[in-house]
Amino acid sequence: MTTATAPAQDLADSAFLKAVRGEPVPHTPVWFMRQAGRSLPEYLRVREGVGMLESCMDPDLVVEITMQPVRRYGVDAAIFFSDIVLPLKAVGVDLDIKPGIGPVVAEPVRTLADVAAIPDLTPEHVPFITQAVQGLVGELGATPLIGFAGAPFTVASYLVEGGPSKEHAKTKAMMFGAPEVWEALMAKIAGIAAAYLEVQVAAGASAVQLFDSWAGALTPADYVEHVMPHSARVLERAGALGVPRIHFGVGTSNLLGLMGQAGADVVGVDWRTPLTQAIGQVGDRAVQGNLDPTLVFAPTDVMTSRAAEVIEAGRAARGHVFNLGHGVIPSTDPDQLARLTEFVQSYPL
Ligand code: CP3
Repeated sequence: MTTATAPAQDLADSAFLKAVRGEPVPHTPVWFMRQAGRSLPEYLRVREGVGMLESCMDPDLVVEITMQPVRRYGVDAAIFFSDIVLPLKAVGVDLDIKPGIGPVVAEPVRTLADVAAIPDLTPEHVPFITQAVQGLVGELGATPLIGFAGAPFTVASYLVEGGPSKEHAKTKAMMFGAPEVWEALMAKIAGIAAAYLEVQVAAGASAVQLFDSWAGALTPADYVEHVMPHSARVLERAGALGVPRIHFGVGTSNLLGLMGQAGADVVGVDWRTPLTQAIGQVGDRAVQGNLDPTLVFAPTDVMTSRAAEVIEAGRAARGHVFNLGHGVIPSTDPDQLARLTEFVQSYPL
């Protein structure tokens, strides 16, 4: 007699969760940051006339958009469709996500009073997140859902600058010059991020990713002193939920070891750092990455031979989850990502 395995067991046995735990995998698991979004015609169709934040607060739309790349590519994990500034919007911060620009904050944070005016996040602020995650978990079955939050430094940059920034000058000016405002702001964002992750995991997310996309702007010493304790607090609270934690940033060659020590099970690596070097830095942790996102614009055989190099390098890690080194570029041809997914999943280990 054959017994069907329980869905929860199939999920626990998924290639993604095995790789994250450092167990042997049937194939290298693969998903793509920003796999849902503007590169998909089906995304552009459902988003017609619906604002970005509005779509993040509509559970049916979140389920549909999150599922789109899972259906199209058969990737090994889904990433919850939302944005790093969504929890701020949910607690009442006046902000918007402008097409082609990114998050824009109406009244940038400058003083202790500004920080104190931002409420802490409770589950009551985000019922639509709970609903969307629950709906997704039902549809995904054995495919893990990755919940996420923005890390304190990256979210602080949007709040202090008031919008996207290359230099993060106002943010770092606060960090260097107004330590008590900085500490209060980082603690506030860390609390919101952790509470936001708790909601997603309580509703059924299998793993979480903390996006510290702009941490690469920091020296290691400044990261250790002004940022790492706050990210560590978020990762600690996520760890208490029993789910694996991925910690990712861009341009973080000099921070990868610290980002692991902050409390990550998996360190995400951008494409600038050779995976072999990253593995040396993170020690006994899994890694995620790190194909250059522009390689999808190269001939397929060039893309796949570079993907093979990434997979080969990943063998030395405790575990390896294949991904791009940053998000999918909107002009990416989805057929190339389909070929890349197929290549990674059928690559003999
Ligand atoms: O598929 C996925 O990865 C899940 C969805 C996701 C979005 N934002 C949707 C989105 C995730 C994980 C994010 C995280 C996010 N948001 C980060 C960290 C990841 C990274 O890229 O480093 C950051 C820095 C943001 C802030 C943000 N939001 C930016 C820089 C932008 C892009 C601006 C633009 O339009 O080019 C956004 C908007 C955004 N977030 C879009 C999407 C699909 C595009 C908006 C749209 O489709 O109208």
